[in-house]
Amino acid sequence: MSSTARSVRLDVNGFFSHMIGSYGFDGHDLDGVVPRLSAAVADLDAKRRSGALPFYDLPYDSAAIAACNALASELRAEFDTLVVLGIGGSALGTKAVLEGVPAASLAGGMRVIVADNIDPASFSRLLDGTAGVDLSRTAFNVISKSGGTAETLAQFLIAREKLMAHPSVGAARWARHIVVTTDPVSGPLRALAKAEGFRSLPVPAGVGGRFSVLSSVGLLPLAAGGVDIEALCAGARHADTLCCVADPRENPAALHAGLLFLALRERGCGIHVLMPYSDGLLRLAEWYAQLWAESLGKAHALDGSLVETGQTPVRALGATDQHSQVQLYVEGPRDKVVTFVRVEAHDGELTIPAAYGDKEEISYLGGLRLGDLLNMEQRATELALAESGRPTSVLTLSRCDAASIGHLFHLFEVQTLVMGALLGIDPLDQPGVEAGKLLTYGMAGRNGYAADAERVRAMLARKRDDLVLG
Ligand code: PA5
Repeated sequence: MSSTARSVRLDVNGFFSHMIGSYGFDGHDLDGVVPRLSAAVADLDAKRRSGALPFYDLPYDSAAIAACNALASELRAEFDTLVVLGIGGSALGTKAVLEGVPAASLAGGMRVIVADNIDPASFSRLLDGTAGVDLSRTAFNVISKSGGTAETLAQFLIAREKLMAHPSVGAARWARHIVVTTDPVSGPLRALAKAEGFRSLPVPAGVGGRFSVLSSVGLLPLAAGGVDIEALCAGARHADTLCCVADPRENPAALHAGLLFLALRERGCGIHVLMPYSDGLLRLAEWYAQLWAESLGKAHALDGSLVETGQTPVRALGATDQHSQVQLYVEGPRDKVVTFVRVEAHDGELTIPAAYGDKEEISYLGGLRLGDLLNMEQRATELALAESGRPTSVLTLSRCDAASIGHLFHLFEVQTLVMGALLGIDPLDQPGVEAGKLLTYGMAGRNGYAADAERVRAMLARKRDDLVLG
């Protein structure tokens, strides 16, 4: 059995009536959705074979993995810090892995900072040296699939000017500090990479942002940061062997999607909470939130009809949110399904010292491992939800490492496509995001977007002063 085998297990007991009572499903409910799940899995398989879903092949692309490792070695030899400039799918996967893997596994990697927002307070702190970044030793990986995202281009322009003005970089050397990851042929960043002679990597055609973490988008910065990207891809490949199984009852991506769909349609669970019991996996929950929200939240079905569908992803953190959100999950509206992510062997395990033997309310903790206590808390929350008839599932990782995170990436990506098929929408587009981009172009004065700017002005003009207080 390979090292990745059974490193991630999905437990869906918590959807069924034998665990949560009458609110749960029975075999008959699942039978009802199985034909649609089977059709969705077969359709994905056909599309994949025709080349229409290239993200499936990313973890098998040994040439791309080698190219990322080679460029990462070059960058490590020249610089000590890599700043990723990118947003959404160009940033969230990298953050998820960097924070998810054990810190010790990054030894030998360079410092990688993902600057995915354009808040001037944090971006200026990053560039002015107060965050410990020395521009003469810093490379910038400008990542944008389209090459035209305003946030990323704005960051690039600011970084470029700072590099040009830096006494030990300057006009002669600044371009060496820029590495571009973008579409192989089109878009403004690709044109710039050619014109300026930047080092660059392609994002394969047909791979959208939120499905791109295992392309050069994620693999270059992760390799630079010391992540074993081969192990990350091996985890995804192992998940692929499970998630392409034709029988949906044996396919974790299909089964989970089917049950989440039933929870949405039959029980009104419009909210999917992903709750890792691991600080390092909170960023993975953020990556998942983008994937689930942007892929499934759609106004129109494939046939053009208005459906306004989706399931709102919420990220929560165990045990922290037991003292914040869980009261709502256990007793509030029955509109949520909670998926726990549980780690069996925690990194940096600590044993709680035995002390105060005469005080039972304290001494019972002595000798327990902190990670075991965290996992007990997960089971406690799972049971509290079960006893109040709320659906749950549990993803258990034997360890939180590159392979298990790669596994989760692939599992969640396929699960999202299957859910998209059940909802009858296109999970690969994002017209709502594009609409916001156009309005921003208009407000920023870009030629050709005057009508978008006018729509914003009209919105502001409609506002009534008596409804603005303070
Ligand atoms: O998933 C997506 O397509 C988006 O979230 C994009 O990743 C995001 O909008 C950034 O786009 P780009 O990579 O083109 O700059």
